[in-house]
Amino acid sequence: MTETALTLDRIRKSYRTGLRRRRVPAVEDLSLEVSPGEIFGLLGPNGAGKTTTIKALLGMVFPDSGYGSLLGRPLGDRRSHARLGFLPEQPYFYGFLNAERGLHMYGRLFDIGSGILAGRIGELLDLVGLPRGSHLTLDKYSKGMLQRFGIAQALINDPDLVIMDEPSSGLDPVGQKEIRDLILGLKERGKTVFLSSHQLSEVESICDSVSIVNLGRTVKAGKLKELLSVPGSTTIVLSGGGPTDSDRLSRAFGEAREVAGETVLEVEAGKVFRVIEEARSLGMELVSATPARRSLEELFLQTIRETSK
Ligand SMILES: Nc1ncnc2c1ncn2[C@@H]1O[C@H](COP(=O)(O)OP(=O)(O)OP(=O)(O)O)[C@@H](O)[C@H]1O
Ligand SMILES: [Mg+2]
Repeated sequence: MTETALTLDRIRKSYRTGLRRRRVPAVEDLSLEVSPGEIFGLLGPNGAGKTTTIKALLGMVFPDSGYGSLLGRPLGDRRSHARLGFLPEQPYFYGFLNAERGLHMYGRLFDIGSGILAGRIGELLDLVGLPRGSHLTLDKYSKGMLQRFGIAQALINDPDLVIMDEPSSGLDPVGQKEIRDLILGLKERGKTVFLSSHQLSEVESICDSVSIVNLGRTVKAGKLKELLSVPGSTTIVLSGGGPTDSDRLSRAFGEAREVAGETVLEVEAGKVFRVIEEARSLGMELVSATPARRSLEELFLQTIRETSK
């Protein structure tokens, strides 16, 4: 394995649009790095440049400037593509094929022998939750079924790196959970997964690292655990108290909230024992004391607010 699964270094890409063919920037000075074996999430509002970034990674658009590497080879080097799987944002498949014949066609593009391919197609259909042996052609598939087919197609060559542009798009909540588990399963098998997503809860539950892009630039990046932790702050959850107890704690230690019958406070690490002693003297029980975390949604919204014009 190479040291990094992929890198982008100061990528710029603009498109010519309109009658005057004016250059409009889609990606400006975007850098990122993905380590082997991790699940990496690319986040950003609509139009931030995620799909353009993915297209640049895959050699589907040529950056105006900047560098990058994919599985140890420079961007655009097709030799890395045999070890790569890709799920496009708006996949197009031949509608007259059924799932097995469609996957067979993609497998043949990778020169996979018929014997191996037959076994793999069955396994992939099971993996993404599509029936084996169905005569239903792809033009009759629902959006969610097509997305599942797209994921199976992305995995046909048993890739080391899978790039997915919005993998849970169009899937119902059960389907989204299945895809989350499938992506975690890929990681367990040592694969690297790069995905773009608007599903912040999905990203929060499966990604190791994220990069938030806004207006074509990376505006926040790092290990998710570190980005979400609030240094030096502890969340204390107490039970057995009423509103008067919460008020007393609020006056002494800052805002105490009532959440689902429990009292929740965030305090500086140095005050934890004092809060617990005070709570005990009020007849309350300690439920938990954990390092404070903010949600990815909070981080995302705050980051976008701060970095938008
Ligand atoms: N082929 C193209 N020609 C002209 N402009 C384009 C083209 N493709 C993308 N753009 C523009 O580049 C910008 C970034 O688009 P991109 O599709 O990369 O965003 P995105 O982050 O994937 O958005 P979404 O979350 O909506 O999928 C947008 O302003 C878009 O209009
Ligand atoms: Mg997109």
